Amino acid sequence: MSKIGIYFGTDTGRTRRIAKLIAQKLGDSAVPPLNINRATVEQFLAHDVLILGTPTYGDGELPGLSVGLAQESWEEFLPCLAGQDMSGKKVALFGLGDQEKYSNEFVDALIFIHDAVVARGARIIGYWPVDGYSFKASQALLDGRFVGLALDPINQAALTDARVDAWLQQLKSEGM
Ligand SMILES: Cc1cc2nc3c(=O)[nH]c(=O)nc-3n(C[C@H](O)[C@H](O)[C@H](O)COP(=O)(O)O)c2cc1C
Repeated sequence: MSKIGIYFGTDTGRTRRIAKLIAQKLGDSAVPPLNINRATVEQFLAHDVLILGTPTYGDGELPGLSVGLAQESWEEFLPCLAGQDMSGKKVALFGLGDQEKYSNEFVDALIFIHDAVVARGARIIGYWPVDGYSFKASQALLDGRFVGLALDPINQAALTDARVDAWLQQLKSEGM
């Protein structure tokens, strides 16, 4: 079985730090995290299990050139998956956001990655409850749960480590 792939987008580095934390906690079963703007589609699709992380930018959007980032990111990578087959793959998502300043679009970007990989046949693991967060709205909800782990290192930094631990346990129980 292939090692777990961890890919992230970032502007100011927080999502990279969480990706590294996750990799550290997974040890040998994961490859080192890679910025999605350096990944090839072939490399990305070589994993049976993928952990994908993204911040939200703009007004509830994916990181990428159109929200003013200096580098390409998920916005530019996702269209490259068109026509690819991800059936049989398990994908877990984590998203960083700011539930106070962006209370109406908290971690919205998760939904774009979710929908893109589901459309290619992947199965999502790691849906996450909304308990413990304080936000008004999020596009990243499905049946009342976030489509992945929501993290807010700006307002709830002290909760990050325990949330990551609990989520990784959940992923293991869901067959990661
Ligand atoms: C211009 C700008 C727009 C943002 N828009 C959102 C948003 O719509 N929703 C949200 O939850 N967070 C939003 N954020 C917060 C970022 O997602 C958060 O700061 C995140 O930790 C950044 O991750 P990074 O360091 O990996 O780039 C925004 C931040 C900035 C600077």
